[in-house]
Amino acid sequence: MSTQVFEWPKTKTGDSAAVPSMTREFVCDVRLGLAKPRKELHSKYLYDELGSSLFEAITHLPEYGLTRADERLLRRHASDIARLIPARAAVIELGSGVGKKTRHLLQAIGAAPHQGPLRYYPIDVSADALARCERDLSDIADVHPLVQSYLDGMARATAEREAGEALLVLFLGSTIGNFERPCAVEFLRDLRRALLPGDALLIGADLVKEPERMLVAYDDPTGVTGAFNLNLLGRINRELGGDFQLRDFEHQARWNEEHRRIEMHLRSRLNQTAFIAEADLSVTFRADETIWTESSHKFQLQELDAMAEQTGFRVEGQWVDRDWPFAENLWTIS
Ligand code: AVI
Repeated sequence: MSTQVFEWPKTKTGDSAAVPSMTREFVCDVRLGLAKPRKELHSKYLYDELGSSLFEAITHLPEYGLTRADERLLRRHASDIARLIPARAAVIELGSGVGKKTRHLLQAIGAAPHQGPLRYYPIDVSADALARCERDLSDIADVHPLVQSYLDGMARATAEREAGEALLVLFLGSTIGNFERPCAVEFLRDLRRALLPGDALLIGADLVKEPERMLVAYDDPTGVTGAFNLNLLGRINRELGGDFQLRDFEHQARWNEEHRRIEMHLRSRLNQTAFIAEADLSVTFRADETIWTESSHKFQLQELDAMAEQTGFRVEGQWVDRDWPFAENLWTIS
């Protein structure tokens, strides 16, 4: 697919530097994504304040078992995991949110005999979530919140490593599934490069299961996932002066057997045009045309082990939930 470069539109004052860089990036990504023959928007834009609240609501849906499986495994196996990592370790969590499911693990690691005060570096783009995380977990760890992207936050946290200390990186909730498979491998290699022998990565991954079960998890009858998806157009309206008519789009979840992923799309119910003022962009949609907004890849157990090997890790432990096939994987570096 060809990549086009757009010039940033001038503001009324003609001063493009006056536009916050986050908005500039959002505008660029929207212009690029909606110019593609198969329209797409990056899933990271699903998570504004409203989108994050809707995602939190998704984690409580009876149909979406992923988060509960992740939490169950962390609760049940916290002490097994703590036993398998070096006695003195600091913990870094990528995309921690409020850090709710991390409590048991931090408790188990903090209780290790040679541990001393446990340092915990939650990394997230949401300052609000990190403020809550710090408030809720400061009774069991020294919390050092980092409002940054994953790799920038990793660089900051690894720079604070103390002599003789190992690092445990947590990447929970199957967020790895939201990367395209080759990008997931690249990202894991980047993580590996930021770590040293003796360090470890605990990575949660949702497993392939019956398509009906996965589909209803991403198209719940309550409509919460639909609202989560449609909010992306609402966000463009609010932040970029768009005029999308949300009722003229419909949420769709599809199981892509070839790529073993659930895809979320927004389907245009009719021929229509939307205008996005901040991007000075008109976008036309045919009836039934869709915008691809997210991929959620699902994994096989052997595939996870192969990914560890491919990216420079050694498989140290794997725990699988019986009720909702999901795997917690402890990978180390030797
Ligand atoms: C954050 N991520 C792992 C979720 C998932 O299952 O891919 C996001 C989500 N999208 C729809 N429902 C949940």
